[in-house]
Amino acid sequence: MAPSLVGVGVGPGDPELLTVRAIRTLREAERVFSPTMAEDSVGRAESIVREAAPDIAVERLVFAILADDEARATAHRAAAERITECLDAGEQVAFITLGDPNVYSTFHHLADMVRQLRAEAEITTVPGIMAFQDLAARSGTVVVDGSERLHLVTAVDGPGALDTPLADPDAAIVIYKGGRHLPQIAEKLETAGRLDGAIYGELLGLPGQRLGSLRVSADGPGAYLAAVLVPPTRDQG
Ligand SMILES: C[S@@+](CC[C@H](N)C(=O)[O-])C[C@H]1O[C@@H](n2cnc3c(N)ncnc32)[C@H](O)[C@@H]1O
Repeated sequence: MAPSLVGVGVGPGDPELLTVRAIRTLREAERVFSPTMAEDSVGRAESIVREAAPDIAVERLVFAILADDEARATAHRAAAERITECLDAGEQVAFITLGDPNVYSTFHHLADMVRQLRAEAEITTVPGIMAFQDLAARSGTVVVDGSERLHLVTAVDGPGALDTPLADPDAAIVIYKGGRHLPQIAEKLETAGRLDGAIYGELLGLPGQRLGSLRVSADGPGAYLAAVLVPPTRDQG
């Protein structure tokens, strides 16, 4: 087989949510990389793989996820160069990522850099279960039905991200990266009459998981790994 890079989604946290294809791909790879904040720190994706398949060896790539743009670009370049070394050595390389590799993931930045270094590299992805799907399942929430719509937004810069989706009462809203702004998000939903029914999930499938009504959890900031699911407005009759 020609050397290749595959981004593998490992789901949101529960090792049982790793797909059969993800496990098979990781076993077939000759090198499995995982993102981490520091060389001596086990990242979330690595701990999920450790629990599901402890025999799979993982090599860490340090990413400056919360640092400035320049530090992030430098870290991505160093990671892409390490991956390229392995591709040049003829290896099948996998890179694990939380949830799905095509949704708010570092993987495509990394893939772009690898492509710049080796235009001929074959790059693919294996989908992963996303946090909001786990949140819907755990809370027994139907996300969308019939002609209802779904907005997936990031609230990393605050609740302004909700303005457009809230204009559509028949749309479900999934809010990622909003932990820091939880009280403001709840306030905005309350004003729009959408707070009742909004579900909050923090550290889903991981130690310390919290799950329940957003109204109850929104008395302070939440974690980075937190998701909110606001179902569409539906007739009760
Ligand atoms: C960088 S994005 C990763 C998204 C991921 N690629 C996906 O497909 O779900 C990180 C955001 O995903 C959500 N998230 C991921 N895992 C989660 C978990 N275990 N519990 C709650 N939210 C989670 C949170 O909103 C978090 O801020």
